Amino acid sequence: MNITPISLTGGFDPAVEPPGPLDRFGRRINYLRISLTDVCNLRCVYCMPEHMTFRPRHELMSDQELLTITRIMASLGVDKIRLTGGEPTVRPNLVEIVRSIARLPGLRDLAMTTNGLLLPQLAEPLARAGLTRLNISLDTLDAAKFKRITRWGDLDTVWAGVEAAEAAGLRPLKINSVVTRGFNEDEVASLARLTLERDWEVRFIEVMPFGGEADFAQSAVVSSAETRQRIEDELGPLYEIPGYDGRDPARPYRLAGARGSIGFISTITEPFCAGCNRMRLTADGTLRLCLLRDGELDLLTPLRDGMDEATLTQHILQAIYDKPWGHGLPDGAIPQSRIMSQIGG
Ligand code: 5AD
Ligand code: SF4
Repeated sequence: MNITPISLTGGFDPAVEPPGPLDRFGRRINYLRISLTDVCNLRCVYCMPEHMTFRPRHELMSDQELLTITRIMASLGVDKIRLTGGEPTVRPNLVEIVRSIARLPGLRDLAMTTNGLLLPQLAEPLARAGLTRLNISLDTLDAAKFKRITRWGDLDTVWAGVEAAEAAGLRPLKINSVVTRGFNEDEVASLARLTLERDWEVRFIEVMPFGGEADFAQSAVVSSAETRQRIEDELGPLYEIPGYDGRDPARPYRLAGARGSIGFISTITEPFCAGCNRMRLTADGTLRLCLLRDGELDLLTPLRDGMDEATLTQHILQAIYDKPWGHGLPDGAIPQSRIMSQIGG
């Protein structure tokens, strides 16, 4: 594979660098992912057990608390926000939350990652409230396999959600596919084929290990190299698209003549920590600087205890400065305290 070296700043042009606080490695942290809830209406096998216990409501940030923290982040130069879960669309008052965040000064991009089930009714109101784009999770185009992976899901409903997102103008649309051995590694070419007709970005994700699901994830990981080979065997060569932005975890490729593109998120086999510009706010109000490291800063308790905003802001800046360099999966450091749905993937 043709690998472009990534500089400390992630390979982007400092002349057009976005705002946002720096960490001690010189990375600019301008991107906040907010988990709105740990609850989900599916039970994907790589994500959570079928009988999952969720956090009680009072442990989660209220709408007001969430907006206070988000406003502070925007004032620090965070200009890109993604709403995640669990499944963000099951959060009460979602459209109002989106409307309030979209109004924050300086925000350039407000996106959401969703399983798509509720988009038939929500895509249009979300677009009107100021959401700019969507990533929809879709691991297979086969209804039986979809049911097996998600345990509860119905593929037709998700597909209706995809169509609703397009109709609402939520573009460019990205499709996230976690490739899981024994479940969908034979589906990757069908998913890649979507890009021939649609101008979507289909992204293949290596399954990551978390807590109780770690053993399963580690035995089920399919490398991006294998996924890419499977796609090329069926559909011909993938061409690297020039101008890769080192901050994007997905390196983009294209099939000959395709309208859309194909990305590979190779967390396990080709870590992209050098270009990381991300931090995460969990639904219970802790700031997590690395998806795959357990260290976090509780913001909700001090906020509820009445800490003034200037002090809270200093704590946030310090945590950002101390962001870990990268994950420790190669050294066996598997995050234990939370699974993906409790962090916001
Ligand atoms: N590894 C990789 N991706 C995961 N997701 C959930 N759990 C995992 C995991 N263990 C993905 C979902 C969705 C996004 C929110 O995170 O499929 O696309
Ligand atoms: Fe729900 Fe997403 Fe986890 Fe699937 S991967 S169970 S859709 S949070």
